[in-house]
Amino acid sequence: MPDLIVENIEKQLGTAQILCGVSFELQQGEVLALLGASGSGKTTLLRSVAGLERPDKGKIEIRGKVVFDAATGFEIPAEQCGLGLVFQSYAIWPHRSVFENVAYGLRLRRVPDAEIRQRVGDVLARLGLGHLADRYAHQLSGGQQQRVALARAIVYNPPVLLLDEPLSNLDAKLREDARAWVRELIKQIGNSALYVTHDQTEALAIADRVLLLDRGQIQQDGTPQEIYGRPTSQFAAEFMGSNNRFDGKIAEISANRARLENHGWSLWGKLRGNKEPGAPGTGLIRVERVRLADGGGENHLKMQLKSALYLGERWEYVLQLGELRLRVWGEEGRAPGECWVAIPQEEFWIF
Ligand SMILES: Nc1ncnc2c1ncn2[C@@H]1O[C@H](COP(=O)(O)OP(=O)(O)O)[C@@H](O)[C@H]1O
Ligand SMILES: [Mg+2]
Repeated sequence: MPDLIVENIEKQLGTAQILCGVSFELQQGEVLALLGASGSGKTTLLRSVAGLERPDKGKIEIRGKVVFDAATGFEIPAEQCGLGLVFQSYAIWPHRSVFENVAYGLRLRRVPDAEIRQRVGDVLARLGLGHLADRYAHQLSGGQQQRVALARAIVYNPPVLLLDEPLSNLDAKLREDARAWVRELIKQIGNSALYVTHDQTEALAIADRVLLLDRGQIQQDGTPQEIYGRPTSQFAAEFMGSNNRFDGKIAEISANRARLENHGWSLWGKLRGNKEPGAPGTGLIRVERVRLADGGGENHLKMQLKSALYLGERWEYVLQLGELRLRVWGEEGRAPGECWVAIPQEEFWIF
């Protein structure tokens, strides 16, 4: 039985349709990332699952129990669902101790003192905060405060952890570390989690599965490898990674391949979706899949190298051919001039 089933959720706020029929399941122990641009409806969806927002349509089940059903008007109050919530503004109390911050929710639920001591102690130890139990929260670093916010959610043993951009208050370096320990922690306690983020790298790194949300609709639902490596729509392809884009016309189609052309170039690639010869098409390839080549060949282009930018761990070349501009990564500096570029057919998607 899945931990969470969300069925056809719709939500209007003011005059705007924010969620347009969202459905998904969250399996036991699974970490599901809800990825989308700012304003795509992630927080509204998470708040709906948490019972803080009342959808206009749809149904939500937690561990086999209906907690919301618009059709019958049935609704279980949020606090009875026992979900663990961590928000971006994690609002821990600065003038209470770490222990009291984590114990607060259990006290509200009138859990006996001895049990509170034990449960809070366990969770703090698990998060590496044991030695900080008596510190005031405001004396902690940003990363430690984030751990307290997580501890506070985990201490309830919630059926599902709901996290809304939980790392966005941390600076870049801490965030990179946090990705790993947050995932390890969720896996270790065996919880399922719905993890909202607008950061694609964070979503890929932290999740078992990614839901890509755009304007209140799920565009793709797949493993990180599928979302990045086999996008099913042009939107999904362009949303992820760094891409080179080729606008042109479909000149030829052969089985599942197509030839795309425009002034001065012609390239074969994998055809994604239904197209007829003569139709406009867009070619996309991840920047890391393009390479400079030693000479001409199939799907090679002769281009002008305009500039070579030093980026620390690599170089980025900017190449031009008429109106077509490409970015290519390489290992060494290069002088402007003519050079060849290889566009591997298998990696070149034509939409
Ligand atoms: N109370 C509200 N009334 C009207 N529009 C809202 C309200 N809250 C959020 N919105 C709009 O809903 C859209 C989705 O918001 P949100 O779910 O917060 O997106 P995300 O978390 O993906 O950034 C945004 O365009 C936002 O402006
Ligand atoms: Mg949000």
